[in-house]
Amino acid sequence: MSATQGLRHHLDFATTLAYEAGRMTLGYFRNGVRTETKEDESPVTVADREAERMIRARISERYPSHAILGEEYGPEAGAGSYRWIVDPIDGTLAFVRGVPLYAVLIALEIEGVCEVGAAYFPALDEMVHAATGEGCYCNGRRARVSQVQSLSEGIVAFTDAKGFEAYGREPEWDRLRRAARYARGWSDAYGHALVATGRAEVMLDPAMNPWDCAPFAPILREAGGYLGDWSGRETIYGGEALSTSRVLLPEVLDLVRRE
Ligand code: IPD
Ligand code: CA
Ligand code: CA
Repeated sequence: MSATQGLRHHLDFATTLAYEAGRMTLGYFRNGVRTETKEDESPVTVADREAERMIRARISERYPSHAILGEEYGPEAGAGSYRWIVDPIDGTLAFVRGVPLYAVLIALEIEGVCEVGAAYFPALDEMVHAATGEGCYCNGRRARVSQVQSLSEGIVAFTDAKGFEAYGREPEWDRLRRAARYARGWSDAYGHALVATGRAEVMLDPAMNPWDCAPFAPILREAGGYLGDWSGRETIYGGEALSTSRVLLPEVLDLVRRE
């Protein structure tokens, strides 16, 4: 099997799994699910845990030698250079509030590079996916970043306005939102999906774990955009995230780089 065919198989597996886990979460959505609070003060529910258990079981069954990193159950070692990175529900606050913008995120990292990504938004029935060399698709249609040439015409998405202050990044956020035409919230993973599909120009988040953004590395790359930290490094390990088009990247980096 060629490397490309291999990635296609992994992509099919990731999208099917994200879809099935996502449909399962819908059974709990707007259904009075009980919210617990984790040590880091973030919300979690039985749906997060059940979805991650299902995803991990299916990965282990199909690829017993692959490593797994998931938000709720942590790292599990593997035997080679393949690692699945999983966030069973990204946007748990949206999920428990009945806001339909939450996602199931599944990515495959090979030798440290995210090559396959699936982001499924169950309540919207929207699937965004990509694999290296295969293009980025949203519900079967080719997706690309926006062609807007200046941030002054663009939409900036973010998750939580208070988060910028909490992480000491208010000056950068302030400069960016003032330069943009609009700044819209509630975004979580959906913000990166909006950028990859050309519906927003920038998504900025001051707090990111690798599982919050892993699928968006190949998704943005294949859509002609950038996903990385706020200083221009294309990484999911920077503790912060920025996605945008290649055209707007220099303008955005000038505004959000630390002084
Ligand atoms: C959160 C989202 C959010 C980010 C937080 C994450 P969760 O994930 O990805 O956009 O700002 O840092 O914790 O808890 O909803 O999976
Ligand atoms: Ca998350
Ligand atoms: Ca989560």
